[in-house]
Amino acid sequence: MVKHNMKSFALKTLGVAVLLIGALSCSQNNTNLKEVFVSSLRFSQAQLKKAVAEVNDPAQYPRSTLENGKWGTTSSTDWTAGFFPGCLWYMYDWTSDSSWQELAEKWTNGLEKEKYNTNTHDVGFMIFSSFGNGYRLTRNPHYKDVILQAAQTLANRYNQKVGCIKSWDFMGDDKYPVIIDNMMNLELLFWASKNGGKKEWYDIAISHAEKTMKNHIRDDAGSYHVVLYDTLTGNVKERITFQGYADESTWARGQAWGIYGFTMAFRESGDERFLKTAHRLAAFFIRHLPEDYIPYWDFNAPEIPNEERDTSAGAVAASALLELMKFTREPELKEQYYKTARTILANLSKPPYLARGAESSAILLQAVGAKTRNKEIDVSLIYGDYYYLEALLKFQNMKRKN
Ligand code: GLY
Repeated sequence: MVKHNMKSFALKTLGVAVLLIGALSCSQNNTNLKEVFVSSLRFSQAQLKKAVAEVNDPAQYPRSTLENGKWGTTSSTDWTAGFFPGCLWYMYDWTSDSSWQELAEKWTNGLEKEKYNTNTHDVGFMIFSSFGNGYRLTRNPHYKDVILQAAQTLANRYNQKVGCIKSWDFMGDDKYPVIIDNMMNLELLFWASKNGGKKEWYDIAISHAEKTMKNHIRDDAGSYHVVLYDTLTGNVKERITFQGYADESTWARGQAWGIYGFTMAFRESGDERFLKTAHRLAAFFIRHLPEDYIPYWDFNAPEIPNEERDTSAGAVAASALLELMKFTREPELKEQYYKTARTILANLSKPPYLARGAESSAILLQAVGAKTRNKEIDVSLIYGDYYYLEALLKFQNMKRKN
């Protein structure tokens, strides 16, 4: 009996020692990683300074890089225009240095007229990543007015019969496309409704999320990119892709928008169905990641492993998982999300994905805009940089030790 007790005491002591060593090395890893991420943020700061000097015109907005590594720019009307000011706001967030605020304000102010842009659902991305971050950090009341107007503009694209916002106009009046990406633009409606706007905007966001949950997600939790609706019946007409490999494939960034969008929809509504959907989408995404956790541009791209990665999809997913883990009750799942986000960020923070040492004005390399459209293949994308910075800041602000 005594012998047995001694043995069990020794085993328990050994177990505790192993756990302590494990926890210690995990927390040391994490301390190292936090340092790595500080170094990435410093590098990002230098790249953004370079981009500001290179673009040197607040009416021009970086979108994707050209062959020489410099930014190709757009006017304020492009769906991506909010992300450059968004990056500048994140830099202000991280440094508290007013010179970043001044730059962020310059590029944000140039976007104001887009609050009336009725041509695209992406008024959400455009206004919320610029004015939204600006309002979060400065409480400038004018920014709030701009956000509320933009929400009204977005709500005008809602069709009651379909129960969704129309994503794109370019397919013609006889098509009613809704894309998985559209989930991201609901954040503008949720926020505006809660901050002085209309209750109706909240209802629109809920209806859109419900329909997307029902019609965009397959049984295996992979997502369709585009669902075309019949505006007379409100029924689905067709499920297709625009930026993915095939109608039945799962486009990596679309899946990442879905994880982020449904996590945000749960945060804003408390509706458990959205949380469950976010978990399902996340499980699919994680299950399909390659060894270094940086996704191929489409999970079903035919020539994997000889296909391009999409760092922007990785950055969006990392940011989404760092929020989803907060709503996760199961410790093992929480840990899985945390480790996945951490690994994605760790690998994005070094070559070949980080632009350190490369001829480039961007932060991340190796992203894909629309391969099947022969557009923006293996480039830097401003939204990849934006969500990378967002995820790094989320990680740095976490209280966790391991
Ligand atoms: N429509 C946004 C994207 O290309 O991901």
